[in-house]
Amino acid sequence: MGKAVRYYSRSGNTKALAAAIANGASCTAVSVDEVGAEIKEPVDTLFIGGGLYAYGIDKKLKAYIGTLDSSKVKKAAVFSTSWLSKHALDLLKSELKGRGIEVEEETCYAKNMPGVNELKAAEEFGKRY
Ligand SMILES: Cc1cc2nc3c(=O)[nH]c(=O)nc-3n(C[C@H](O)[C@H](O)[C@H](O)COP(=O)(O)O)c2cc1C
Repeated sequence: MGKAVRYYSRSGNTKALAAAIANGASCTAVSVDEVGAEIKEPVDTLFIGGGLYAYGIDKKLKAYIGTLDSSKVKKAAVFSTSWLSKHALDLLKSELKGRGIEVEEETCYAKNMPGVNELKAAEEFGKRY
């Protein structure tokens, strides 16, 4: 079982964080609305993230989490970007737990477009779990 990275990003900030995590996790970051986003083979860790929009996560990301099968996802680890609030991290955690998926306490976050240090930290995050 390997690792997978899924994300939803409207303007590219969370996409950049997803790419760095995927680099650390030795896999490819896939947008939840891309063909092939479905988790077909079981994974040890699903990294899943998105931006915060009007204090909520995008409905496409929420719908995607609703399709996840807990028997195929051993655990999840969440990430997000926003102007200020880390609320998306809590929303993601609670959606995943609602699907019966265990979630790592540690999260990965950047304010807007991640900088060099944040990308490095994201890569480490991808390696660690
Ligand atoms: C319509 C809209 C609503 C937003 N609402 C919030 C918000 O409530 N709190 C916040 O901290 N950032 C908010 N943001 C900022 C985004 O979360 C931030 O730009 C984020 O990095 C976007 O991620 P993305 O580039 O992956 O789409 C909002 C941005 C947009 C476009």
